[in-house]
Amino acid sequence: MKRLLTGLQPSGELTLGSLIGGIRQSVAFQEEYDSFIFVPDLHAITVPQDPTLLRERIKKNVALYLACGIDPAKNTIYLQSQNLYHTNLSWILECNTYMGEASRMTQFKDKSKKQQNVAVGLFTYPILMAADILLYDADFVPVGIDQKQHVELARDIAIRFNHKYEDIFTVPAPLIPEIGAKIMNLQDPTRKMSKSDTDTKGIIFLLDSEEVIRKKIMAAVTDSENKVYYDIEKKPGISNLLTIYSALSHMKINEVEEKYKEYNYGTLKKEVADLVVSTLLAIQKKYQEFMAGKVVENILKEGLLKTNKIAKEKYDAVLEKIGLGRV
Ligand code: TYM
Repeated sequence: MKRLLTGLQPSGELTLGSLIGGIRQSVAFQEEYDSFIFVPDLHAITVPQDPTLLRERIKKNVALYLACGIDPAKNTIYLQSQNLYHTNLSWILECNTYMGEASRMTQFKDKSKKQQNVAVGLFTYPILMAADILLYDADFVPVGIDQKQHVELARDIAIRFNHKYEDIFTVPAPLIPEIGAKIMNLQDPTRKMSKSDTDTKGIIFLLDSEEVIRKKIMAAVTDSENKVYYDIEKKPGISNLLTIYSALSHMKINEVEEKYKEYNYGTLKKEVADLVVSTLLAIQKKYQEFMAGKVVENILKEGLLKTNKIAKEKYDAVLEKIGLGRV
């Protein structure tokens, strides 16, 4: 069985983008693949974090995975920082990654512009991500478009490593959703909807109340043409709303266009809001149940035991190949 692996940083509250680009793909494929989903909490500290909030968000992430439909019977669910092999392998991969290729990462360029003091970890972050993936021989990595370059770096590192030290890593491939690979900010539809933005007006969080969701969608920035059709260049706001509707309704973009072509923007917004509200309220109800009991703690305990075993085997094999470790 092929293996699928992904993770969502607890660096902010999860958003509609996290759901559509990240979690939903894992839910869709969990029957088909040996699925791993984890919380990359070490990635979150590449930018400043409040310790109390961070710890809370780790638990919330897992509860949200479950509430969104990740089935613990079909997924291995775990916490990155509990498994020391991630950072150990990351160091070895850093020694097999070139400054040139790491410097090409566009997310680092964007994120480092927003920081006053840029941590070295923000630069090496994609290499830790490569370790997350290669440690478990993942075949497929479902991600939104913003993470594609990072998965490709993991791929390049795996190919180089295999060439240098004989085959040891599975070469991973990104899985990008056909619709919703980049959900845009509702206030600035030329920018990604990002959980770490400080202005939250354009972001739908998975735990937003019905009232807030409706307010944000009704206030979404559009254009003045008042004609509903998909054109990402000329009509990024309307195209984003059509994409959200399409992703959540499982209708094709052209079917959604057809459905709303005679309607004004107000009606489209209202119906997008209805759909987002019904989707998220159902998730929120389950989320409360998972937060209440010991489910999350137990799942992470089990996940740690299982992944430690797999990771140790891979890590020991890597040490052996490169001439490190026990003599
Ligand atoms: P992160 O936490 O930024 O995002 C989690 C997942 O959600 C997707 N996503 C989006 N998709 C569509 N539209 C959006 N607006 C949107 N916002 C986020 C992301 O593409 C991603 O799939 N580095 C990773 C976490 C990570 C990881 C890994 C992922 C660490 N190690 C190993 C996969 C495999 C990250 O920061 O994703």
